[in-house]
Amino acid sequence: MYTKVIMTITLQPIPYQGSKRNIAAQIMRYAPKFSGRLIEPFAGSAAIAIYAAHYRMAGKFLINDSYKPLVNLWRKIIEDPEECANQYEKIWRRQLNNPSDYYLKIREEFNSDADPIKFLFLMARCAKNSIRFNSSGKFNQSADKRRLGRRPNEMRMHILSTSLLLKKKSQFMNTDYETVLSLATPVDLVYMDPPYQGTSTGRNPRYHQGLDFERFVKNLNKLNQKGISFLLSFDGQLGDKKYGQPLPEYLNLHHVPIHAGRSAQATLNGKKDMTIESLYLSPALAPKTIAQPLVFV
Ligand SMILES: C[S@@+](CC[C@H](N)C(=O)[O-])C[C@H]1O[C@@H](n2cnc3c(N)ncnc32)[C@H](O)[C@@H]1O
Repeated sequence: MYTKVIMTITLQPIPYQGSKRNIAAQIMRYAPKFSGRLIEPFAGSAAIAIYAAHYRMAGKFLINDSYKPLVNLWRKIIEDPEECANQYEKIWRRQLNNPSDYYLKIREEFNSDADPIKFLFLMARCAKNSIRFNSSGKFNQSADKRRLGRRPNEMRMHILSTSLLLKKKSQFMNTDYETVLSLATPVDLVYMDPPYQGTSTGRNPRYHQGLDFERFVKNLNKLNQKGISFLLSFDGQLGDKKYGQPLPEYLNLHHVPIHAGRSAQATLNGKKDMTIESLYLSPALAPKTIAQPLVFV
C-alpha cells in the first residue's frame, strides 16, 4: 500500500470564503490520471485548478464562472500579473489615511464600473472575506474593521506564482455552467462546486446567482450518458444538521465524506461541531480511482 504525502497549498490570489483550498488534497486524491483538461465550471477562486497545476495533475485548464468581474480578474491575474499586483498595491495603499471611508468609496465605484482589481480589494478587505450581494446584485458586504486586507507584497507573490502555474495553459470563460459542460469530453476531468442550497438565496446571498436543482440533476445525467468523469462537491453537514437536497439514486454517484474541520461559525459560537462536506464521484470515475491513505505534513 502507498502512502501519499499531502501538503496544503497556501497559494491563493483570490480570497474567497468557501474556497476549497484547505480540502483540495482530500478532493484530488480521487482524481484519476487523465490526459485532457481540468474543467471547473463553477470556479470561484479555482482552488482545485491551482492544486492540480501545482502537483502537475493536469496540463490544461478551463476555468469558468458566471460572475463576470471574477472571470475578468482571473484573466488579469494570469495574463498580466505584474500590472494586476501594481494596481492592487495602489488601491490598497490609498486606504491608509481613512480605511472605512475609502472602502465604501471603492465599493460604490465597483458597483458601477465592475473593475476587477477593485473587486479583489473588496474581497481581501470585506468582513470574513465573505462577499455578499443585495437583491439588485450589488456588492454590499461591509469592511472588516480590524484588518486592512492582504498586504500588497503577499498578494503580489500569490498573483505571480499563480500566473506562472496557469499561464498559457488556461482558457477562461464567463458563461453558464451548462455551456461549459457541453464542451467536456471523456478525456477531461470536471470538478464542480456549485453554490450550495441555502447560501445563494434569502437576504444578502453569498453568490450572485443560485442553483436550479432540477436543471443541475439533468446536466449530471447528461455527463453520465457521455461517460464523462466528474467530481462534485455538494451539500454538507455541520454537527447533526444536513444541508441540501439529496441527489437522485439513478445518477449512480459514489459518496465520500470529506472532513473540513471546525466551521468558522461554530468556533465563534463556542461549539465543537465539525463540518463534513460531501464529495460525489461519477460512475465513469469511481472504478478508476483508488484513494490512498493520507498523511498531512
Ligand atoms: C461555491 S463557489 C465555488 C468555490 C470554488 N470551488 C473555490 O474553491 O473557490 C460557486 C461559484 O459558482 C458561480 N456560479 C453560480 N451559478 C453559476 C452558474 N449557473 N454557472 C457558472 N457559475 C456559477 C458563483 O459565482 C461562485 O463563484
